[in-house]
Formats: sequence, structure tokens, C-alpha cells
Amino acid sequence: MGSRGEQALKKPWLEEIEQHLLPELKLSSEQPYNPIIVHQVPKPWQLLGSGNYAAVLTHPNYPDTVVKVYAPGRPGLEEEIEVYKRLGKHPAYSECLHAGDSYLVLRRLTGVTIYNCIRLGIPIPRQVLHDIDEALKYAVSRGLTPHDVHGKNVMLKDGRGLVVDVSDFLKEEYCSMWDDLKRAYDRFYFPWMRRIPFPEVILHMVRRGYRKWKKWFR
Ligand SMILES: Nc1ncnc2c1ncn2[C@@H]1O[C@H](COP(=O)(O)OP(=O)(O)O)[C@@H](O)[C@H]1O
Ligand SMILES: [Mg+2]
Repeated sequence: MGSRGEQALKKPWLEEIEQHLLPELKLSSEQPYNPIIVHQVPKPWQLLGSGNYAAVLTHPNYPDTVVKVYAPGRPGLEEEIEVYKRLGKHPAYSECLHAGDSYLVLRRLTGVTIYNCIRLGIPIPRQVLHDIDEALKYAVSRGLTPHDVHGKNVMLKDGRGLVVDVSDFLKEEYCSMWDDLKRAYDRFYFPWMRRIPFPEVILHMVRRGYRKWKKWFR
């Protein structure tokens, strides 16, 4: 990494990011509690996903890395660098290879998010939850507090669990999302439904229902 990383990235790669990707990528954030919106992705970049802070993209010439670009006005980049520093190397987490002013270069995790598993009807073995529990305990042992661990932030890869988003792990208050997700898995994820794809509209309704339920009953 240049001034703020662990590893030097090749110059052409950084030029591709800073001279082609960043000027042409159009992101915006409308409501702070909703995911950011991606309006335009320059070719040949591919959007892998987006979340509450950033869009995550990959380039065909650099398939082992992703670039996480923070939307204008969304905080958290410095915190995410610090979290990756504390995590060091661990099989369930990515690593930060470079940090720019508005973006990070991370090692690519090639799993499928739990959210997409449900959307596509890919069964999620219980082992995945166990692996993620272990990874979160490891984070705690590094002085971090797991936060915002939900279906779009964890992945299934070869039957094992990965944690894809650690950006809020410096926040110290308890976040119930992961415990709620495990409870939902044990109560509602019946074997007969595991291969059934659930359309995104249904998943949006579940997300909205969950937010309302948290507001009313907690
Ligand atoms: N290291 C990675 N490798 C592969 N895909 C990733 C990686 N990091 C993030 N993604 C994808 O991008 C999405 C958004 O990234 P995330 O870190 O969750 O952003 P945010 O902090 O805005 O929530 C994830 O749900 C996942 O699909
Ligand atoms: Mg996320």
C-alpha cells in the first residue's frame, strides 16, 4: 500500500482506479439508513455489490481484488482501515491492501452473500453460521465489536462462512442483527424451503418488516 497500507500495489492498477474508475463512477446517498445508489459504472468494471456506505467493484484484469468506493458524504473509511489493521490475517475476513482518499482496495472474497443464497435458492449449511460465530469471537479478541452483521455482509464459500463487511466493528454498542439472523435461521429456515428462490421484493418486505419490528418491540 502507498502511504497507508501494508502492501505496495502496482502503479498501473492505481492509475486505472484513480484515472478511470473514480471520475466516471456515479454514486449517491439519499437516506442515511438506506443503501447508497449506484447510477453509473464505467466499462469494464463490474459492480459486485453495494451497502450503506459504498459500492464494491472489480476489474477483469485484477480479479483477486475489489475496490470499495465510499459514496460522497458517507463516513467510515478511516475506521474500516483501522479494523482491518486490528484483524490482521484471518481466513474468514478480507484484508485491506491499499487505501486512497475515498476508496479501499481489498482482497476479493469469492463467496455468495447469504442474502443472495436465499434469493437464488442456494442452501445455507449451519456450519456457515458456526464459522461466522468463530470469526466474530476472533474479532472480539482483537478489541472489536461485531456490528451490522446481516445477510448482505456475510458469505457462503465452499460450505464455509466468511465476513465480508467489517466497517462498523469499531462502534462499541451491542448490535443484535447477527443474533436475530441466527434465531431466524433456527426458527424459520426449514429444509423444504432451502432450494426455493425468494424474489427480491419479498426480501425487501422482510427487511422493512424487521426494521419496524425492531422499532416497536425493542
Ligand atoms: N472483499 C470483497 N470481496 C467480494 N465482494 C465484496 C467484498 N466486499 C464487499 N463485497 C460485496 O459488496 C457488497 C457491499 O460491500 P460492503 O462492504 O458490505 O459495503 P457497505 O460497508 O457499504 O455495507 C457486499 O454485500 C458484497 O456483496
Ligand atoms: Mg455492508
